[in-house]
Amino acid sequence: MSRFQIRVPATSANLGPGFDSVGIALSKYVTLDCQPADEWFFSVPEEDQPYIPSGKNNLIYKTALFTAEAMGHEDLPPTYVQLENDVPIARGLGSSSTAVVGGIELADHLLDLGLSRYEKFKIACEIEGHPDNVGPAIFGGIMVSNYDGEHLDYVHFTEGMDDLTWLAIIPDYHLETEKARGLLPVEIEYKQAVNNSGSANVLVAALATKNWALAGKMMQSDRWHQPYRQILIPGFSSFKDILEKEHSLGHYISGAGPTTVALFDEWDEDKRERLEVALEDYQVEPLQVNLSGAETLVLTPEK
Ligand code: HSE
Repeated sequence: MSRFQIRVPATSANLGPGFDSVGIALSKYVTLDCQPADEWFFSVPEEDQPYIPSGKNNLIYKTALFTAEAMGHEDLPPTYVQLENDVPIARGLGSSSTAVVGGIELADHLLDLGLSRYEKFKIACEIEGHPDNVGPAIFGGIMVSNYDGEHLDYVHFTEGMDDLTWLAIIPDYHLETEKARGLLPVEIEYKQAVNNSGSANVLVAALATKNWALAGKMMQSDRWHQPYRQILIPGFSSFKDILEKEHSLGHYISGAGPTTVALFDEWDEDKRERLEVALEDYQVEPLQVNLSGAETLVLTPEK
């Protein structure tokens, strides 16, 4: 087996009312540099070591093994995996999805499984439970999908997004998805649900027709999850004025938070500098869409 590299993009899920269903792949990456070894080892960047195990309890390994077993294999060839991580952990930018998708790619390459992207997506949904992060991490672009535990349906958009900037406003604290999901109501009133579903429908239609201004407006119309989660993201309510002043089309809590993502169709360095000053307590990163999704690159030829 040759040395190979797997690269998985960060993702931003929900885009407002597209809760558990809509997501986009963004230009931040986890990279796995892989080579044959006598035993499994994940070399983890120092700052991530408290959160990412280096042995077989690593989520990448567990997912790779799950994938192998699902395809009728008992084991995986031991591999040394050097991890480079530009996706902050537990901030709403799909870090756990990068591990899940990275693990599936790893098994696919090590065992030459030849999985289709749809098969990878299905395995990832079984592990993650909802498709909105893993879908774009595998396919790139914007993914609209639904998974009910058995059936997986999706529509994938990749066109017309080159000039958009997705500004990630990243706080310096972690927020576990489980905690942010724990704040959501068990039931929602019928009339409210119809209204929420209408907002989500308009969001998706706006994304599909590249009506970015309307998509931005819909991002802010969400009532499925953002009103309940803001209590855990104290800065969120202060972003509106700052972002509107810079002509952002709209903003939303990325995934389960605490990162906020704001959409811009016009961007320049002056705007970046002003926003860095106005949002000085945050890591502010202007990102682009990633269109290719997860990729595996062979670094040395087979002998
Ligand atoms: N749709 C998910 C949520 C994304 O908002 O909880 C995080 O996994």
